Amino acid sequence: MRIAAQNEVRNPMQKPSKAISMVAAMGAMAATLVLAGCRQDMHDQPKFFPQRGTTLYADGRSVRPQVENTVGRSQLHQDSYFYTGLVDGREADGLPFPVTARVLARGQERYNIYCTPCHSRVGNGEGMIVERGYAKAGDFHTARLEQAPLGHFFHVISNGHGAMPDYSAQVAPADRWAIVAYIRALQLSQKATQADVPSGAHVEPLSSIAEREGLPAAFLGEWKIPATAETGTPTHQPLVLPSPGGDGSARTNSQPAASTGSKPAANNQAAPKQ
Ligand code: HEC
Repeated sequence: MRIAAQNEVRNPMQKPSKAISMVAAMGAMAATLVLAGCRQDMHDQPKFFPQRGTTLYADGRSVRPQVENTVGRSQLHQDSYFYTGLVDGREADGLPFPVTARVLARGQERYNIYCTPCHSRVGNGEGMIVERGYAKAGDFHTARLEQAPLGHFFHVISNGHGAMPDYSAQVAPADRWAIVAYIRALQLSQKATQADVPSGAHVEPLSSIAEREGLPAAFLGEWKIPATAETGTPTHQPLVLPSPGGDGSARTNSQPAASTGSKPAANNQAAPKQ
């Protein structure tokens, strides 16, 4: 009785209608073909594996040497001053394109993004990161940097300088030059006199701007790292950086490094800024 019941249940399954079983078989075949097709193509296509040899080339190397006398797309740097700031291996002066208000505005924007964290908005090297214990960044208002050729600033952004990392990955060459132009304007702005503006131009003293805008008195003071600033080190001691020369000597964030640039280090260790 029990067996018969099971058979009754199983019977419809064992003998499905012809049409259904054909559709199922075709579906399965199609799926197999599609899947198998994909896998074969992807797995068996001829290709090189990085850093592995090959029998295709006589020298057995899958990594091919660059073809001589060819230049990769977008790697043709014909205007070498634009890309290096150097002429005959020496930092040169001048911008590779005309300075316009637009270039300066772009430079100011990029400078405020990439440089102020360490150099501060006024460029005295006492930005927020320095306030938190990083090595004192360069003060652009020293006699040495005021006289430095523009190529020097381009070179520093492109290659770094002592404790400063390079910003070549973040800032494209045209923007580096825009920053350089803005730094020079920043330098001039700190020593500007009435005689520097064309006669008749309206000059408003900072104090009256501060008064009009309702800014606190501290706005007129010079930007300095507050005495309460943390050093950021667990021991609350100044951060000690390894010497850039790797000679084992160390320096702290209260001792700016001697210049490693090609210019004479006239006055980087300058006394407190005027
Ligand atoms: C992470 C902090 C940091 C940032 C961001 C930074 N700098 Fe510096 N910069 C330094 C430090 C630190 C020094 C001093 C390096 C030394 O003397 O070892 C320095 C030095 C310099 C100097 C002086 C080089 C010399 O001849 O003494 C220039 C110019 C300069 N930076 C430009 C820039 C510009 C332009 C930017 C933005 C694109 C920038 N820096 C962003 C930390 C920074």
